[in-house]
Order: sequence, then structure tokens, then C-alpha cells
Amino acid sequence: MPMKSHVSLYRWFRDIPIARKLYFTVGIMALLIGIELFVLLFSLSTLSSLRAYVGGEGLWSKAQKDAVFHLHKYGTSRTEEDYRLFERFMRVPLGDAAARQELLSSRPDMAAARAGFLEGRNHPDDIDGMIDLFTRFSNVSYIEQAIRVWGDAQSIALQLPPLARELHQEINSVHPSQDRINATLAAIYDINRNLTQFEDAFSFTLGEGSLWLERLLRRLLLLTALTVEATGLLLAVSVSRGIQRGLGDILTAARQVSAGELNARATVRSHDEIGTLARSFNAMAQHLQARVKDLARLNQELEREVGDRQRAEAELQEAFAQLETTIGELKRQIAERLRTEEMLRQSEKMKALGQLSGGIAHDFNNLLGVIVGCAEMLADTMQDQPEQEGLAREIIGTALRGSVLTRRLLAVSRNQPLRPQRVDLGALLQDHVELLRRTLGEAIRIEARQAGDLWFTSADPSQIGDALLNLALNARDAMPQGGRLGIEVVNAHLDARRAAAFEVTEGDYVMLALADTGTGMPKEVMRRAIEPFFTTKPPSAGSGLGLSMVYGFAKQSGGHLDLDSVVGAGTTVRLYLPRAPEEAVAQAAAPPVAAPDPRGSETILLVDDNQTLMEVVRRQLAALGYRVLTAASGPAALAILRAGEAVDLLFTDIVLPDGMSGTRLARTARRLRPGLKILFTTGHASGLPRQERQNLLRKPYDRRDLARAVRAALDEVTLTR
Ligand SMILES: Nc1ncnc2c1ncn2[C@@H]1O[C@H](COP(=O)(O)OP(=O)(O)OP(=O)(O)O)[C@@H](O)[C@H]1O
Ligand SMILES: [Mg+2]
Repeated sequence: MPMKSHVSLYRWFRDIPIARKLYFTVGIMALLIGIELFVLLFSLSTLSSLRAYVGGEGLWSKAQKDAVFHLHKYGTSRTEEDYRLFERFMRVPLGDAAARQELLSSRPDMAAARAGFLEGRNHPDDIDGMIDLFTRFSNVSYIEQAIRVWGDAQSIALQLPPLARELHQEINSVHPSQDRINATLAAIYDINRNLTQFEDAFSFTLGEGSLWLERLLRRLLLLTALTVEATGLLLAVSVSRGIQRGLGDILTAARQVSAGELNARATVRSHDEIGTLARSFNAMAQHLQARVKDLARLNQELEREVGDRQRAEAELQEAFAQLETTIGELKRQIAERLRTEEMLRQSEKMKALGQLSGGIAHDFNNLLGVIVGCAEMLADTMQDQPEQEGLAREIIGTALRGSVLTRRLLAVSRNQPLRPQRVDLGALLQDHVELLRRTLGEAIRIEARQAGDLWFTSADPSQIGDALLNLALNARDAMPQGGRLGIEVVNAHLDARRAAAFEVTEGDYVMLALADTGTGMPKEVMRRAIEPFFTTKPPSAGSGLGLSMVYGFAKQSGGHLDLDSVVGAGTTVRLYLPRAPEEAVAQAAAPPVAAPDPRGSETILLVDDNQTLMEVVRRQLAALGYRVLTAASGPAALAILRAGEAVDLLFTDIVLPDGMSGTRLARTARRLRPGLKILFTTGHASGLPRQERQNLLRKPYDRRDLARAVRAALDEVTLTR
């Protein structure tokens, strides 16, 4: 329990405000100093009282001695004066005795005691102190002994008055007895001697007692002084240490916080101002920490937002760039689309024009065929009339020259009979360069070059030669003051996009490009340049069929012709021809046969819907010795074959009425008569399978061509024309 109360007192002191701590400390100190002062005063008064007793004892002894002296003197002098003096001096011990008696009684009368001490000639100021000392310390052994000794001396001293009275009576008696007087004086002397011993003892015990009291008071004073000092020191140290430690903690925490350790806190040691300060500091630090945390979070959010925004911006920019690319691509696609559409329109137009010119050529060829056939027969019958025969031959020649135009028209219509071969375009170019140099003249510098590792192309070589010449002549016409013509052969791959634009199949091509430094073509001219009969040249200089023929040839060969021109800078024409498949083998050309018209006696089934032409050809064949059967259509021809007629050669036009073409007729006829020889003729190449092309006689033809083709077909020999 006392421990607990001690602890709680400590706590209480720790937690009270500093001002109160100070008040408390000062209060305690004042109290202690008061106590010390009190002790001091008490000691002073006690010591003073002690001194009074010692003084009193001196007075008492002296008075008793004086009384005994005067009594002795009275014994001899017998004067009343001495007796009175005895009585007067005796009053001192009697007064003290009365005071002692009073103080020792159970209910002391302080006034009586004071009167007693006054009688004992003590100083009035000392009397209260003496009474206090007596009552206070009467139980202390030294004092008690002193009082007892005092009492003993007193009781002996009290024996004096009766003896004195005895002496007085004796002396004043009528007959004073000297003996009795002497006896009394002897008794008095004894008492006096006795008293002297007691007086010594009393003086000694009083001295002892005062020494003890002095020691006691000194100790008491020392103790209180030490207590005052220790308590003062303890309180001062406790208060200052409490303040120091609390402030030190706060300072340390403040330094840590300022150094960035935001979770640092001051230890709260008390509930006083320092404790409140520590708590306030901690609250402030916590608040700061929370704010810093908030700030950090805010900062993070801000950074994230900035990041998001930057990302969004980057995305936007990317999207924008993509959009720009897309727009660019779109523009390019639109331009390409427009170009492709233009090309398609052009190509459609060309197809239509081609069909038209093809039809014209077909009919025209038949006419020419009739003319040539009839004129030849006429010439035969007029062999003896040279002038007429000459005229007939003139007709034949003119008609055959007319067929040049029909051929060109067929080329435009992509229907000219072609003999595609595996061609090395580079080698072909080299073969033609010299001829071109001569044709174009010295004003035009030809720079021919070819890439290495050129692929072979698959096309009719004679047509390639014609195309090259045509294009070179156009370049020459575009450079009247002379210039440079670059001719180049390279491999080219057409991807799906370009292939679609060119209306060809995607894949490998060999490209022949002619680039001149001529006038170039305005847009309008370029747009129409490949149209048949379109020319910017005077009628005598150009027919307008050159480019359209080359274009028709390119298309018929599975390739393309592409024009590129800048007015004032020049024109580049590119001819694309398909790459030849690896396995394709060059066809051996049969050597030209220079011999008289071959003849024969076999049976030929002649099929043609043009009655006039059929009649002319029948006569020609008959003139060559053959037996000729005729039919105007496929079904009619089949009827003849089914009838079991012996036929060696089926000679048929490809274009036939009644829904059966020459090729279909040939297929059916072969089934009926396996081994039947077949020869086709046409002003068109359309619809004739590749493998049948060597069995083709192009319209119009003269008798020599007819005789050779029929003979070759019968003998199964391949001819070149
Ligand atoms: N290399 C070129 N430079 C400038 N213009 C050209 C070129 N090639 C062709 N042309 C233009 O295209 C038109 C048609 O050419 P095309 O070859 O079809 O006929 P042409 O040359 O006029 O007559 P032809 O070829 O029948 O003698 C020419 O009249 C010319 O205006
Ligand atoms: Mg031309």
C-alpha cells in the first residue's frame, strides 16, 4: 500500500502542470524552511530556558549559601538584622521550591508557579521558558534526574527554616542556651554541608541534561536542514529532469521529422505542459504524415493522369498519322481506281472496236478470197492473151495488198492468227537494233540494253519485231529534231494489284520498254493513242493503227501495253509479254518450200458458208487435181461423212452458221472418221485451239498458199507462214 501511494503520488506530481509543480516545490520548501525556523526557535528558546535554569541554580545556591551565612552570623551576632537577611535569602530557594511543587502537582497553577520562580529571583522573561522546559522535558531522564536532585536539595534546604526558627526562639528566649544554639548551628552546618553535595549533583545533572538537549537540538537542526536541502534538491532535479527529458524527446522527434522520418513520435511521459506539447507535436507529426501521404497519393494520381494523357496524345497522334496514311492510301487508291477505270474503259472500247474491225476483216477477207480466186482462174484461162492475163494478175496483187489492211485490223481485234514461240527477247532486240538504227537515222541515238538472266517470253516473234518497229517509228516521229531512244528489256513481276489494273494474270513477265526524249503526249492524245485510226499525223504520214495493233497483239499474247508520257519530256512505252513456261520447247520451223504448186487426187470435203468463196475454192482445188465435195454448214458436212463418202481431208472455215463452228465439226468428224486429216481456214484466229494452229490457212490466200496448205495437211507436214 505505501508503495502504491508512493507511485500514485509520483504520478500525480509528474502529471500536474509545470507551474503547479513549481508552486508545489516552492510551497514544500517554504514549509520545510518554516519547520526549520520553528525548530531553530524552539531550540533557541529551549537553550535559553536551560540557561535560565543554570542561572537559577546559581542564584539558588548563592541565596542558600548567603542564607546559611547570615544564619551562622545570627548565631553569633544574635542581631535581628542577620535573621532577616537569612529569611530574605531563604525566600529564593523557597520560591523555587514552591514553583517546583506547583509544577509537579497534577493540576499545576501556572500563576503560582510563576510567582514561585519570581520569588526565586529568576528573570521574568525566562520564567515561561522555564515552565515550558519543565513540563516538556520532565520525563527525559537527565532532566528528571536534575529535577529529582533539585527536589532532594530543596527538601534538605527546607530543613533550614525550622532550625532557624528554633535558633531564633532560643536566642530570643529569656535564657538562651548556648549549647542548644551551638547544637542548632551544628545541625545547620551539617545541612549546609549536605546541601553543598546536592548542589554539586544538581549542577552536574543539569549540565548533563543541557548537554543532551544541546546534542538533541543540534541533531534536530541538522536533520531538518538536511531534509530541506534534500527535498529541495530532489524536487528541483525531478522537475528539471522531467522538463529536460520531455523536451529532449520532442526535440529528437522534431529532428527526425525534419529529416524526413515522418513516423517518428515523441514519448509522452506526463500529462503536464511537456506531455501536452509532446502530444501536440505527435498530433502535428501525424497530421503532417497524413498530409504528406495525401500529397504523395495526389502526386501519383497526377502522374498517372499525365501519363494517361500523354499516352492518349501519342495514340491520337498515331491515329492521326494512320489517318493521314489511310487518306494518302485512299487518294492513291482513288487515283489508281480512276486510272484503272480509264484503262478498263479504254480496254472495253478497244474490245468493241476490235470486234467491229474483226468482223469487217472477216467479211473483207472472204471478199478478197473470192476476188483472188476468181482473178486467178481468169488469169489461167487467159494464158494466151498476155495483156488480159496481166490485168487479172494486177487484180490478184491488189486484192492481196488489200489483205494487209485486213490483217492489221485483225491484229487490232486481237484475232490475228499468231504463232507463239519461246522467245529470247534480248536476242531478238539485238537482231533488230541495226535495222532500227538504219531506219531511224543518225539524228536519233539508240541506247539498247538488256538485263542479265532474262526470262524467255512466249509470243509470236514476227509480231514482236513488228511491234518494236512500230514503237520505234512513233518515237522517231516524236523527235523530229532528233534525240535519244532508250530500249530496254528486263524481267518484271506484276503483283495482284498491277495485274488487275492491266487485266492480266498475276505473275512474271518480260518487259520491253522504249523511252524517247520526244514531244510527249497531252492527256487527251494519250487517252486516245491506242484507238484504231486515231492519229495526230497527216493522212499520208499515219494511219492511226500502229499503237492499236501493238496493243491488240500484246493483249492477244496475254500481256499488256502501258503508256507513260510527259509533254515536253518524252514518252515511255512498255510492252509486257508473259514469261514462257520452262517446259515450253521452241517449235522447229519447217524450211520454206520453193517448188511448183503441189497437186493431188485425194477427196477433199470443203465447208464454207460463203457460197461464192466456196465455189472459187472448189474450182481451184479441182484445178489442182483433187476431187471436191462441198457443204455450207457443219451438219451438212457431217451428213456427207455419215453417208459413207470417202473423204481424205476436211477443209473447213472456222466461223460457220447453224450453231456448229469449224472446230466443233472437226471434233465430231474425227470421232466418225479417226485419222481424218483436217485443214482450217479463217480470217479470224478466235476459237481455234492451240494444237490446231499449224493446220490453219489464213484468209485471204492465193492458189499457191492453198495448194501448199492442202498438200501439207494431207501429208501431215508443218508449214510456217
Ligand atoms: N512516242 C510517241 N511520242 C509522242 N506521241 C506519240 C508517240 N507514239 C504515239 N504517239 C501519238 O499517238 C498517235 C497514235 O499513234 P499510232 O502509232 O497509233 O498512229 P500513228 O503513228 O499516228 O500512225 P501509224 O502508226 O499508223 O503510222 C500518234 O499520232 C501520236 O500522236
Ligand atoms: Mg505509229
